[in-house]
Amino acid sequence: MSLLEVDGTCATYGTVAVTHDVSFTVEANEIVALVGANGAGKSSTLMAILGMVRLIAGRIRFAGNDITGLAPHAIVRQGIALSPEGRRVFAATSVHENLMAGAHTLRKADIQERLEQVLTYFPRLRERFRQMAGSLSGGEQQMLAIGRALMSRPKLLMLDEPSLGLAPVMVQRIGELLREIQSREQLAVILAEQNVNWALKLASRGLTIEVGHVKLTGSASELRNNDYVRKAYLGA
Ligand SMILES: Nc1ncnc2c1ncn2[C@@H]1O[C@H](COP(=O)(O)OP(=O)(O)OP(=O)(O)O)[C@@H](O)[C@H]1O
Ligand SMILES: [Mg+2]
Repeated sequence: MSLLEVDGTCATYGTVAVTHDVSFTVEANEIVALVGANGAGKSSTLMAILGMVRLIAGRIRFAGNDITGLAPHAIVRQGIALSPEGRRVFAATSVHENLMAGAHTLRKADIQERLEQVLTYFPRLRERFRQMAGSLSGGEQQMLAIGRALMSRPKLLMLDEPSLGLAPVMVQRIGELLREIQSREQLAVILAEQNVNWALKLASRGLTIEVGHVKLTGSASELRNNDYVRKAYLGA
């Protein structure tokens, strides 16, 4: 049994499906890259897993439980967290308050310890603990979005375009932090990215999604060496 099993899902915002028969699995303790062009359905897939987008077909199982149709807060409680595209930090509140927004599924007694752990991963956030999130740099806001998602102590962390709009040196830093956190917490990670090269270097496996359909799946190295992937995504 895989940690996450997405089985034949079709996600919809109204009447028209935007993803079609999407199936894939994620094992505990692995990073899976979800790559695709603008509008391919990456965000919709992640939001469907979190119960934020409706499914008209398919099932989602997590840690052996059917979570299809559950409300997002119930899914977070089961151990899934999302760092959304565009970071979505609360600009007019502090770093501290943003992190606490990710903590509402924790027992009160556990919050301080978790906060300390997350601040250990991101020393920059500790330095800027009382600063308004809106005044952080793009890279710091991305760290905050990831830190907020980590506060709930997920077993599966979903990251939607964490590299978007960041300078190469910051993208590299975020990658190093992700590796460290992933191995320390034995996390499963889904990394939705248009920076395909970067994502496939971090991931052990990947899938490509095109106009709502899963097109290719394989190990990260298979995908990196695949002629189609090289032409379509790696600019070869
Ligand atoms: N709130 C919405 N209402 C209706 N359609 C939407 C909504 N959000 C996304 N879509 C549509 O769903 C499809 C998939 O979009 P999605 O955002 O999942 O793609 P994506 O792969 O994340 O793209 P990007 O790389 O640009 O973030 C697109 O055709 C998009 O127009
Ligand atoms: Mg998206």
